[in-house]
Amino acid sequence: MKDLKIAIIGCGNLGSSIVNGLLDSEDFDVKNLTVTKRRPESLFYLQPLGITVTADNLRAANEADLVILGVKPFNVAEILDELKPVLNPEKQAIISLATGISLDEMYLHLAPTTVVFRAMPNIAADIKESITCICGENATPEMEDRVKALFNCVGTTLFIEEHLMEGATVLGACGIAFVLRFMRAMTQGGIQIGFGAETANTIVNQTVKGAAELILQKGIHPEAAIDKVTTPKGCTIVGLNEMEHHGFSAAMVRGVLASFNKIDRSQ
Ligand SMILES: NC(=O)c1ccc[n+]([C@@H]2O[C@H](COP(=O)([O-])OP(=O)(O)OC[C@H]3O[C@@H](n4cnc5c(N)ncnc54)[C@H](OP(=O)(O)O)[C@@H]3O)[C@@H](O)[C@H]2O)c1
Repeated sequence: MKDLKIAIIGCGNLGSSIVNGLLDSEDFDVKNLTVTKRRPESLFYLQPLGITVTADNLRAANEADLVILGVKPFNVAEILDELKPVLNPEKQAIISLATGISLDEMYLHLAPTTVVFRAMPNIAADIKESITCICGENATPEMEDRVKALFNCVGTTLFIEEHLMEGATVLGACGIAFVLRFMRAMTQGGIQIGFGAETANTIVNQTVKGAAELILQKGIHPEAAIDKVTTPKGCTIVGLNEMEHHGFSAAMVRGVLASFNKIDRSQ
């Protein structure tokens, strides 16, 4: 990992989250990182940290072992056409972060032997807590290990089949927003029962963190943990059932499906 040269072509919100995670990682040397934007000024603060910041996509891609595409989905085709003359399919791999752009669509703009991955991290990469779902084509196990090691620097990784990548976008990337909206609603409830906003936020944030850690560390099903909290005739089950009467679980499932259908329609 230390010698791996990485270019992030189109370093916007998600790209910057990955940069922040890598900056904080002992396994990666940020001197080997180059980030690009058409207007790179907003990234110049990274230069004193040893990261190369440039608008020159060709130079950045040419020198990299792993070329990460952080541009919007509608920019992927033009970027691949721009980069193709300098790419070396024998040595490099392309990793696209773009939602809804398939491997086949990318191969329309690449040599057939090129190693191509799709990766779907989320903005928790910023604090090395992303879940990154990955699929790829033409990769050797060593190349897969490299890509896994890269995204392990910013959280946890999972290799999945390509047909599940849109689902991964919804659960992993949109999912952050779903959970945050849930947290906001819980905070609002807390304010109504008497807490100041800041105190309510503190309680909700740590409660959500604790719930996630509990499930992760103990490896138990959420409902099994819920059973431990719901005293018969108690206040927790009354609150939970009231939420379900108002469609809590149904709203979440319908939201997940709506996001999924939206990605499908835009393909
Ligand atoms: N945000 C998320 O949580 C998330 C999660 C998973 C996947 N994704 C995917 O990640 C990608 C990026 O999303 P984002 O939210 O980070 O978007 P974003 O903030 O708009 O970043 C895209 C960046 O690409 C740059 N860019 C555009 N054209 C370029 C070009 N020709 N050469 C170099 N840079 C160029 C833009 O900067 P300039 O205008 O200065 O060039 C911009 O900073 C999308 O494909 C999205 O589907 C996002």
